[in-house]
Amino acid sequence: MSQVFINGARDEANVRDHDSLDVSIQELIKAAAEARKNAYCPYSNFAVGAALRTSDGTIYSGCNIENGAYAASICAERTAAAKAISEGKREFVACAVVAQQDSGFTTPCGVCRQFLSEFAMDGKDIPLYAAKPTNLPLRVLCTSVLQLLPNSFSFQNGK
Ligand code: THU
Repeated sequence: MSQVFINGARDEANVRDHDSLDVSIQELIKAAAEARKNAYCPYSNFAVGAALRTSDGTIYSGCNIENGAYAASICAERTAAAKAISEGKREFVACAVVAQQDSGFTTPCGVCRQFLSEFAMDGKDIPLYAAKPTNLPLRVLCTSVLQLLPNSFSFQNGK
């Protein structure tokens, strides 16, 4: 199955039981799982949900939205981020991603890592929680945007 991406043993050290996480994180994961139900993914059949919490406590969620011209598709993470940013919220305190892969966890693609890293600069890294929608007891990969994209490009670094 070409869609299955195995992150492997490196992730295992950062995997936690869902129930051991803060209630605010559990709520974020639930929001991502709900958004995933709205995924429009007739081409890949791989539904993804994401949710971002902003510093005022609001949750913005999103799903992947595909297009017959494949490159016009958007991932769940950028859908959620675009919703928040266009509402004037860009201080992200946590992110959740939910998708079903048999092995490993779904973490943001390279484009989404770069997109989110724009808002994780100056020591404001964004904790990121990757979970599956069904497997019980639920296990969660706990990482962060800057862990996933070390040495990311930022425009200031480029000057
Ligand atoms: N996708 C996401 O929305 N987020 C991810 O973290 C991984 C990939 C989407 C893009 C495409 O619609 C489908 O999943 C298969 O790659």
